[in-house]
Amino acid sequence: MHFVVRELEEVDSTNTVARGLAEGGCPEGTVILAHSQTAGRGRMGRAWFSPKGGLWFSLILRPDMSPQEMGKFPILVGVAMARAIGAASGLPVRLKWPNDIMINGKKAGGILVESSLLGGKPRYVIVGVGINANVKFEEFPPELKAIATSVSIEPRELLDAFLQEFAELYEAFKCGGFGDILLEAKGLSYILGRPIRAALPDGAAVEGVAVDIDDDGALIVELPSGARERFIGGEVSLSLVRPFPYPPLIQ
Ligand code: BTN
Repeated sequence: MHFVVRELEEVDSTNTVARGLAEGGCPEGTVILAHSQTAGRGRMGRAWFSPKGGLWFSLILRPDMSPQEMGKFPILVGVAMARAIGAASGLPVRLKWPNDIMINGKKAGGILVESSLLGGKPRYVIVGVGINANVKFEEFPPELKAIATSVSIEPRELLDAFLQEFAELYEAFKCGGFGDILLEAKGLSYILGRPIRAALPDGAAVEGVAVDIDDDGALIVELPSGARERFIGGEVSLSLVRPFPYPPLIQ
């Protein structure tokens, strides 16, 4: 896969810039990298703290797939980033479904996948990734200090390592190899086997044990009654019911 990285000083949001370029016909593999963002976005309309020093980028893709498969992207991207951070730092990276990159129980980064659909197919997909790289603890706003962490890796070095891992996984994915990627993601999961609370935008919430991620990337939660519920990534906010650290999982 061929990547072209466009490096910019400051933008509102790399996802917004990438979307504009994708609308203009920019090819798959275009990457928008910014040193800082003034209006970085997280999932569900949240603001994303994006000071200078961190890794903030968006990748344009033009996959030939159905919208139902979109839930696979955060998993693919999460595995690629977990490999890249792990190799560069030796830190134990975990993936908190659907889109969080966790280190030692704290959020080191997140993934925001956006797309434009036409006739039941994505015209393009924007994979936005933010990693707190070299963000000093004092710099985090008070509300993030308890839940966020940062890795000491040079952003450009981490981007290049990520793109290399991503290219390999994306090729496998296009050739029907999502099963192996999913297995790797399950092995890296921060939540499987643990009690969680899943909250929906309408205020409804369920508590249960996260028991599986299915072949479309949806989370399966087992309720105390034994019934199972299936959650799609875009709309759920997930929290652990008991705080970190947990004893090691027995599998
Ligand atoms: C989340 O955890 O809610 C997802 C955060 C995604 C942040 C990245 S930073 C680069 C890209 N541009 C944005 O505005 N958001 C994503």
